[in-house]
Amino acid sequence: MELQGKRIVLGVTGGIAAYKAAELLRLLSKQGADVQVAMTEGATHFVTPTTFQALSGKPVFTDQWDARMPNAMAHIDLSRQADLILVAPASADFLARTAHGLADDLLATMVLARDCPMLVAPAMNRQMWENPATQRNVAQLAADGVHILGPACGEQACGEVGAGRMLEPEEILEEVIAFFTPKLMAGKKVLITAGPTFEAIDPVRGITNLSSGRMGYALARAAQHAGATVTLVSGPVSFSAPQGVDRNNVRSALEMHAAVMARAGEADIFIGVAAVADYRVANAAEHKLKKDTGGIPPIELVENPDILAEVAALKDGPFCVGFAAESQNLEAYAQAKRKKKNIPLIAGNLIQDGFGGDDNTLILFDEAGAHPLKPAAKSVLAGQLIQHIAHLTGKN
Ligand code: C5P
Repeated sequence: MELQGKRIVLGVTGGIAAYKAAELLRLLSKQGADVQVAMTEGATHFVTPTTFQALSGKPVFTDQWDARMPNAMAHIDLSRQADLILVAPASADFLARTAHGLADDLLATMVLARDCPMLVAPAMNRQMWENPATQRNVAQLAADGVHILGPACGEQACGEVGAGRMLEPEEILEEVIAFFTPKLMAGKKVLITAGPTFEAIDPVRGITNLSSGRMGYALARAAQHAGATVTLVSGPVSFSAPQGVDRNNVRSALEMHAAVMARAGEADIFIGVAAVADYRVANAAEHKLKKDTGGIPPIELVENPDILAEVAALKDGPFCVGFAAESQNLEAYAQAKRKKKNIPLIAGNLIQDGFGGDDNTLILFDEAGAHPLKPAAKSVLAGQLIQHIAHLTGKN
């Protein structure tokens, strides 16, 4: 749970996208956040407070004069000790009132009385968004330190197409998690390989492995959250790149090698997570091999370049991190691999503990020895590995 213990006030204002705030609330709660919902009167015309009450397990406040607050201090009490006020959707009207410091309803008053950061996810018709008045208000809010999330471009509830769509709840969740992540890698360029490679035998067949790419993608996401500029060189995997990450698709080890070597010189940190095939087929057939052409076709293998070792050998190259997936003798094999490739850090895991799955058990091996991490989701382990890398690179 990446938002465990975080207290968030979720402000919901009037707009069609208010229905998506219910899903956002569910996602925030699932990550452990303690969420208090406050709605404008307009928002209650789109979704009822009961929905948010059921999802948050707390009373929802809409009225500044709510008699449930014994001291009539709802605007201060509700946001007191909040770590964040998140307003999604944020209507043009809400942005305008906030930019001008108005306090004419509960949410606006809470926002004015806050002593915590605020994120807003605007949602409105594209012409309302493009209107110079809205743009002025948004620029003012940004200058006042409010974080503006989106909006996205696309089809709108009114049938028009353009900028003004609220970011999707999953995207807003990512922004919130990123917001709370210490920026240990601010200004760093991180290059990561992920996934399997596919070594062609003929146009339809090949040699590959069961790497899902999850660990590499989780690291790309964690590095991005930690403030790095992240480039991912990915073998064939079935999911999309984390928000804001530059993804480059490759298939074979040779393609991955070329893509990495073209970018390694600029990187501060290189993390080789890909399960690169050790060998490729030397005599890959141009046309599909046929069964009935007599005999079993011979497959000749040649060794692939060791991408990680090559990057580690670069003069003034990046800080290099490797992965060692073993089925036995983890410590001995991982440390031997670290020394052979001449890299400062390697993350070892037993194949039976995590290859292809959502969770993993990692042990980090560096000059100082072994640092076991508790078994956890790959997203959590990725954050811990990024912290360890930041700690080691910070020392240099
Ligand atoms: O030598 P081995 O494949 O066990 O080492 C694993 C580590 O080396 C991983 O970090 C992997 O991404 C990297 N590697 C590589 N190029 C290869 C083979 C492995 O970058 N050809």
